[in-house]
Amino acid sequence: MASKLPTFENEDLGLNMLPEELEAEINRLRKEKNAVILAHYYQEAEIQDLADFVGDSLQLSQMAKKTEADVIVFCGVHFMAETAKILNPTKKVVIPDLRAGCSLADGCPAPKFEEWLKKYPDHKVISYINCSADVKALSDVICTSSNAAHIVKSMGDEKIVFAPDRHLGRYVSKQSGRDDIVLWQGACIVHETFSEKKLIALKLQHPDAKIAAHPECEESILKHADHIASTSGLIKFVKNSDAKEFIIATEAGILHKMQKEAPGKLLIPAPPEDESCSCSECPFMRLNTLEKLYMCLKDLGPEVDVPESTRVKALIPIERMLKLSETLPK
Ligand code: 13P
Ligand code: SF4
Repeated sequence: MASKLPTFENEDLGLNMLPEELEAEINRLRKEKNAVILAHYYQEAEIQDLADFVGDSLQLSQMAKKTEADVIVFCGVHFMAETAKILNPTKKVVIPDLRAGCSLADGCPAPKFEEWLKKYPDHKVISYINCSADVKALSDVICTSSNAAHIVKSMGDEKIVFAPDRHLGRYVSKQSGRDDIVLWQGACIVHETFSEKKLIALKLQHPDAKIAAHPECEESILKHADHIASTSGLIKFVKNSDAKEFIIATEAGILHKMQKEAPGKLLIPAPPEDESCSCSECPFMRLNTLEKLYMCLKDLGPEVDVPESTRVKALIPIERMLKLSETLPK
């Protein structure tokens, strides 16, 4: 089902600086302030190219935990920066645009979630990392798209509720052979925009193309996929596969790194229902720009903070995930 994506005004900051001037200033400031720039694969190409580390949600949280920099500049969305703060509270965590949210996190407000959980008192709560610190604090273990099935399997016969992404939840239920997992009915507005009809038509034009999809996509898309994985898993698949053409069903920012890792391969973005919009670009991720990254380093703000009482509770399920990920099959 297609959803309407929010639009944000990405205001011109009036800096009148050329991209190369911005880059030089960002490089100067990151040294001066002992800052590390972490970026997700959905960030615009210029930001990825400048970052100290680019990764998926799991890799970024692992990086945030171990960094010795004084400042973490998180080029991603709010829940990612919050996770960094939870894991490494003595560091200052800043984000280029504080409005960079996530439809999954926004669609699962903690008070509503807490009320809903009362119906399942004997269930373990697995929450996808795309949720607020308050929701994490109500969870038993966190997962990302790269370890969700592994974490579900590690729960043995425990009864499980999974939140907030119903598509990832349904996919891991299948992967782990569990049809009794209770799902919170959230979804990602970007991954729900892909059209099955248009995907089939595209595949007819490119019969040798492999379809690679993120598990946040709807079942109607995932059922056509040759490979389903997290952002880093999708990049690895395209790089290592013998195929020469790929249809990519996830946020379009990934194509930058994917093309670098797999030069010479044809990468075709999966078509959204409404091709007149930039529906496969996450409007939240795109709020971060090079100009705002520069301002963020200069002012060391906006800062992402988490109240200590929430942080200590949210830390437990995140640490559990990191521990369980140590035995993740390679
Ligand atoms: P990954 O953990 O696969 O990078 O996904 C993050 C995300 O927000 C997907 O929409
Ligand atoms: Fe959230 Fe979807 Fe954007 Fe990922 S792509 S950050 S899940 S809104």
